[in-house]
Amino acid sequence: MTTTARAHTNIALIKYWGKRDAKLILPYTSSVSLTLDDFYTDTTVSFNPELGSDQFTLNGTAQAAPKVTAFLDLVRAQSGRREFAQVASVNHVPTAAGLASSASAFAALALAASRDAGLRLAPAALSRLARRGSGSAARSIYGGLAIWHRGEDDLTSFAEPLPKTTLPLRMIVVMVDAGQKPVSSRQLMANTVATSPYYPAFVKSNEQAAAAMVAALAAADFTRIGELTEQSSARMHAAILAGSPAFTYFQPDTMAVWHTVQALRQQGVPAYATMDAGPNVKILTLAPAVPTIQKALSAFGGRLLVAAPGPAAQVLEAK
Ligand code: ADP
Ligand code: DP6
Ligand code: CO
Repeated sequence: MTTTARAHTNIALIKYWGKRDAKLILPYTSSVSLTLDDFYTDTTVSFNPELGSDQFTLNGTAQAAPKVTAFLDLVRAQSGRREFAQVASVNHVPTAAGLASSASAFAALALAASRDAGLRLAPAALSRLARRGSGSAARSIYGGLAIWHRGEDDLTSFAEPLPKTTLPLRMIVVMVDAGQKPVSSRQLMANTVATSPYYPAFVKSNEQAAAAMVAALAAADFTRIGELTEQSSARMHAAILAGSPAFTYFQPDTMAVWHTVQALRQQGVPAYATMDAGPNVKILTLAPAVPTIQKALSAFGGRLLVAAPGPAAQVLEAK
């Protein structure tokens, strides 16, 4: 059999940063995200008795992929299948640039590989499986808004969809630098946990923020949603900066965009900035404000992209 699945990236409004169990990928805090329509990964998996090892191509180029093999081992263990697999993946999102390619990648792989191996996992079980590939992938199983509950253990740490909001949410992605990040999220978050004296404060504040975000979304209170979004990002980056060695993903243009967002808000424009493990800025806003924000950032020209809420992970083809 051959199975192709598509999953969209998601951007965290309330961040996931730090694992309390690195093997199982159990996070220190819950997180809340918005899945985006414009960025996604398509992955085709075929378990094949004739293969002598797993094969992986990314955007058409064969490469060694220990994370993919480790992930397929989980699928083999869950399904009882023993064959190796051919995996071909195409990212419609820059890889390792802080635009959550690992989220769409492992959500698509979880769906394609589990189906191809004969499993039909319910969304929560699929989310748990995706989590083992990359934490943020647990949330990309769903369209729109999702919450990943930190949980108590492997069984209880998974994402669920949040009710659809009536707000016309948009995320403007400002591509400051589409190049690969110098340090992976995985490596840096472990370093923040191990060395940043601000990390415990981040955990405390961020877990409260996840609950507050659920309430703000239910109340459709965009100002509160925006404030919580900006704070979670700022506190994550503060914890990163305070680690040892001191480090930041920010580039000069990251700060330039951030200042523009602050200035827009003083003029009454609903816009809030959030940054992930990379220099690119995502601006959370409402559809009517998009043209004003585009104009204020016209210096970035073709490097602005307006994304709307995207769909859940889906099987495109199984034959
Ligand atoms: P990002 O900000 O893009 O999520 P990460 O450092 O979290 O960056 O993850 C990037 C890593 O995810 C890559 O180095 C690669 O190991 C993995 N990855 C990205 N895209 C794919 C894909 N389509 N299939 C499998 N693994 C992928
Ligand atoms: C800053 O999910 O990429 O984007 O679990 O080690 O694969 P691993 O890390 P990853 O981390 C994402 C961090 C973030 C915030 C978020 O998406 O919640
Ligand atoms: Co990632």
